[in-house]
Amino acid sequence: MEPRTIRIAVIPGDGIGKEVVPEGLRVLNHLADRSGGHLSFEFESFPWGCEYYLATGRMMDADGLERLAPFDAIYFGAVGGPNVPDHISLWGLRLAICQGFDQYASIRPVQLLPGITSPLRSASPESIDWVVVRENSEGEYSGIGGRNLAGRGGASEVALQTALFTEKGCERIIRYAFNLARSRSHPKVTSVTKSNAQQYAMTLWDEVFARVATDYPDVETEQFLVDAMAARFVLRPESLEVVVGSNLFGDILSDLGSALAGSLGIAASANIDPERQHPSMFEPGHGSAPDIAGQRVANPIAAIWSAALMLEHLHLPEQAAAIVDAIKAVTAAGVLTPDLGGTATTRAVTDVVLSHLDG
Ligand code: IPM
Ligand code: MG
Repeated sequence: MEPRTIRIAVIPGDGIGKEVVPEGLRVLNHLADRSGGHLSFEFESFPWGCEYYLATGRMMDADGLERLAPFDAIYFGAVGGPNVPDHISLWGLRLAICQGFDQYASIRPVQLLPGITSPLRSASPESIDWVVVRENSEGEYSGIGGRNLAGRGGASEVALQTALFTEKGCERIIRYAFNLARSRSHPKVTSVTKSNAQQYAMTLWDEVFARVATDYPDVETEQFLVDAMAARFVLRPESLEVVVGSNLFGDILSDLGSALAGSLGIAASANIDPERQHPSMFEPGHGSAPDIAGQRVANPIAAIWSAALMLEHLHLPEQAAAIVDAIKAVTAAGVLTPDLGGTATTRAVTDVVLSHLDG
């Protein structure tokens, strides 16, 4: 293997983001240390987040995207704090990066790890194993709309929040899901919409799905309404492989998925620009969790697993698999943080991940 140096922009952000990101970096450094000089990382950390906003009036610098653009990837913690409205912190940083860099594919694996108990009675690592592919650039998160007429008084205010669905946007995420399905032992894609009620945008999605499917005769397909899909996550999880949906539906279903897999604390996610014009961003799915921040009990697994997704994206599949195997060994051994019913600290979980990487 040619020696490789990978440049990663690190944005720990807020709350437990600042506690779990350093754990992911420990894992990456550990891999580099043991690569015999074949792999090294250069990390540059950016102080952006809610404290930065309170000090400067900006969630990130005005030239933030330009500064991030040359990196191979972005490793992100979480954003959101008690003194900044959520829509400001999100649009000012995380969504600005996802949309600015056209990271249109959000990938969220749902997998029950060994040693973790699902709230579902009959769940097993075989039955809970699928990927949510979330459209990540438009849909209900297009940010189009406005509030008006409040000046009239008398509770006259109106708000419009417009979902944007483009044929190209639907097609590219649906294709991504089909390509991903081909990497699974049972290639199958389930598309999720609500086209009975949302008769314009979601029928467009459905039609694009049916058209794209004809290019993938080897992949089984299904189309489901989102409410029925929520029930199916709980009642027939073993029937799921790749689930593709709009920005909002993917958001909601991925939280349901990670709860079924035992905890939001293990939910890894990737925001990918499949065209590789811009760096992709990898982050735990759990948010800043101010309620447990500073207690050293945040589960580092989601962040560490997200680092594995990052290595996979950077064409380092063996290193990515080694991290995932080490995570599974740790959960199987019962080294768990309190969100999973254990008593281990953030750092202790990572320590055991590192020891399995050596083993
Ligand atoms: C997620 C989060 C974000 C989202 C929030 C924090 C805006 O819930 O990554 O799933 O909805 O995209
Ligand atoms: Mg979410």
